[in-house]
Amino acid sequence: MNKVIMITGANTGIGKDTARQLALKSETTKIYLACRNKAKAEIAKKDLEKITGRKIFEIIILDVSDTDSVRKAVRNLKEPIDAIILNAGGVGGKTPRALTKDGVTTITAINLLGHVVLVNELLDANKLRNTVLFASSEAARGIKKTGMKRPDLKTSSIEEFRNVFNGQYFGSDFDALQVYGVIKYGGTLWMSSMARKYPHIKFLSISPGGTRGTEGFDSLPFLQKIMFKYIGMPIFMPLMGLSHSLPKGAKRFVDGINNPNLESGGFYASKENVLTGPIIDQSVIFQDLKNEQYQDNAYEAIQSFA
Ligand SMILES: NC(=O)c1ccc[n+]([C@@H]2O[C@H](COP(=O)([O-])OP(=O)(O)OC[C@H]3O[C@@H](n4cnc5c(N)ncnc54)[C@H](OP(=O)(O)O)[C@@H]3O)[C@@H](O)[C@H]2O)c1
Repeated sequence: MNKVIMITGANTGIGKDTARQLALKSETTKIYLACRNKAKAEIAKKDLEKITGRKIFEIIILDVSDTDSVRKAVRNLKEPIDAIILNAGGVGGKTPRALTKDGVTTITAINLLGHVVLVNELLDANKLRNTVLFASSEAARGIKKTGMKRPDLKTSSIEEFRNVFNGQYFGSDFDALQVYGVIKYGGTLWMSSMARKYPHIKFLSISPGGTRGTEGFDSLPFLQKIMFKYIGMPIFMPLMGLSHSLPKGAKRFVDGINNPNLESGGFYASKENVLTGPIIDQSVIFQDLKNEQYQDNAYEAIQSFA
């Protein structure tokens, strides 16, 4: 049973609603809100205390794009946690392509590298007991209806994954929405590799599905933002089974961390032509997800920056 849970990017969107729903379960005894901005985290904590009536939230300051801050946060953590939800992420802010001091693009750092270092440090310090949940996305297997292409690497070698993570793979064609899908794919493969390396911990990749009411599209270029946030998500996407409410998106994480039917190393998300509804094993849709060599290559590639 997961009683003590940490959530990255918990001050808004799916992370915050996941915290709210988990706090409404009596078995949850502590929720660490791992956020980069203290002021935003404090507002979220107060709000969560008010709406849930529970004082079980603690703030941990952690910026997933800065691996030193991640290491410091783990050093400062006073107790082991049962589960971690690797939720922080998105399309990379205003500068998704900019390299961090570790040599990866910002979009890789916030979705993946910071989380890789976080899990490594927690495991090394014996501060993680049961479950790791990675916020993946259907973009990791392609979403035809929204024009997000299925990742199609040439060799899926360690070197190719390194070039995905440092941006060189994309050359001058760096469309943050497309790159996002390939990074989530790499992260999902890393999780499957981790599941085989650490059999005593459960590693689950789950997509929240197309979820409205978040800030996820705010940093996209103007036209893409208008298309997705104000036209696509609220008007057309619900009609096409491509978006659902914030509580529904977060519920996938809340149910996922305690669901004994989900297998460690698996990637669970929507059925092929929708972004809502029940979750299914995504390797049925995209077989590369099951390829252990690809999984280990993605693992080696991202670890080489950690
Ligand atoms: N919404 C969807 O339809 C959808 C679909 C599939 C997958 N997902 C995934 O679900 C997760 C949550 O998405 P969302 O829609 O809830 O996004 P959101 O509303 O933009 O929230 C993202 C959260 O991540 C935090 N964050 C971003 N960069 C960070 C950093 N460097 N260090 C620490 N925290 C950072 C943000 O903090 P600040 O407030 O400080 O920026 C915020 O709390 C993401 O991983 C996203 O890729 C979302």
